[in-house]
Amino acid sequence: MVTRVVHNSPIEASLLPTFIRLAKNLVAATFGFMKLIPATFILEQAEKDERLKAGKIIETTSGPFGLALAIVAAQRNYSLTLLCPKGVDPAILEQMANLGAKVEVLLDQQECIDQIQARRSKDRELFWPSQYHNPQNSGSYAGVAEAILEAMGNVDCLIGAVGSGGSLCGTGKYLRLVGQDLRVVAVDAMGSVLFGKSSVPGRLPGMGNGVMPTTLEHRMVDEVHWVTSSEALCAARRLHKFHGMCMGTSSGAAFLASSWWASKNPDKTAVVFFPDHSSRLFTSLFCKETLQAADLWLDELPSEPKEISHPREESNRWSRLEWARRSLNSWELAREASE
Ligand SMILES: Cc1ncc(COP(=O)(O)O)c(C=O)c1O
Repeated sequence: MVTRVVHNSPIEASLLPTFIRLAKNLVAATFGFMKLIPATFILEQAEKDERLKAGKIIETTSGPFGLALAIVAAQRNYSLTLLCPKGVDPAILEQMANLGAKVEVLLDQQECIDQIQARRSKDRELFWPSQYHNPQNSGSYAGVAEAILEAMGNVDCLIGAVGSGGSLCGTGKYLRLVGQDLRVVAVDAMGSVLFGKSSVPGRLPGMGNGVMPTTLEHRMVDEVHWVTSSEALCAARRLHKFHGMCMGTSSGAAFLASSWWASKNPDKTAVVFFPDHSSRLFTSLFCKETLQAADLWLDELPSEPKEISHPREESNRWSRLEWARRSLNSWELAREASE
């Protein structure tokens, strides 16, 4: 018998993943728009404890979380101000504005945070979801962990690209809580500070970070992969070619790391997160001439990551480090990385 579920809204439909098998031991947890999970949860919690009584929200965002907040805020008639650092995709800014958010583009993430603090010191009723430091971000993924358990039973490895760390650490924590002996594999962008490299321009949408979020729990992570922009783009095209799935670059990067992991561990089962589709990336993903002009085109992907033994070890291609559930401090670069 076929069971058909009718969701009450597109938001509700996005709160739980659809599972798609990519290989015998690799399953993708795909989402319509994953950031709707923390956006909905954080606003609902704030409604419950009356921090949203005035109906005014402010947040800094470089894309997906702000867009998700704008969708939920529009449905619930909240006033939303989004402060974006320079460089956010203009199409996303337009979408946010179309949803009724007041969008302001500032210099960088630090200026956005300074502005939020200044405005909140004048208006204490402004609610700041603060996805990078709000434990409710990770907490919102309990339902995803439950869905994984229900769909798959035992899982040996969870792999995902990391921005705030909320999805990977939140889901991983719940899976470990119920006794799963889980390996957690984080996928980061080359120019990101998250796992101890220094911040340089050119991060990928949704993954990597220029500032250190407290929602990322380094001690949960067993293994880190860094992927370049051109490798992530090439992997996203490979995902399209071999599975007909048109996903974004962070899914591409996660696909690269997870396919490798699954092939090296044929007796283990892995789940990989694909947080959203790539409709806004169609041109940039497939347009060879544009990508070649930007030095972002790759014909072939390396078959193996370069093994490195320290986060600061030089590498300009897909690399892998056995993180071994260490703290960032233990690599003796924390002060430098978080400045
Ligand atoms: C579009 C998108 N949404 C969400 C995420 C996951 O982000 P977080 O680590 O903040 O949960 C990613 C990470 O790759 C992403 O690309």
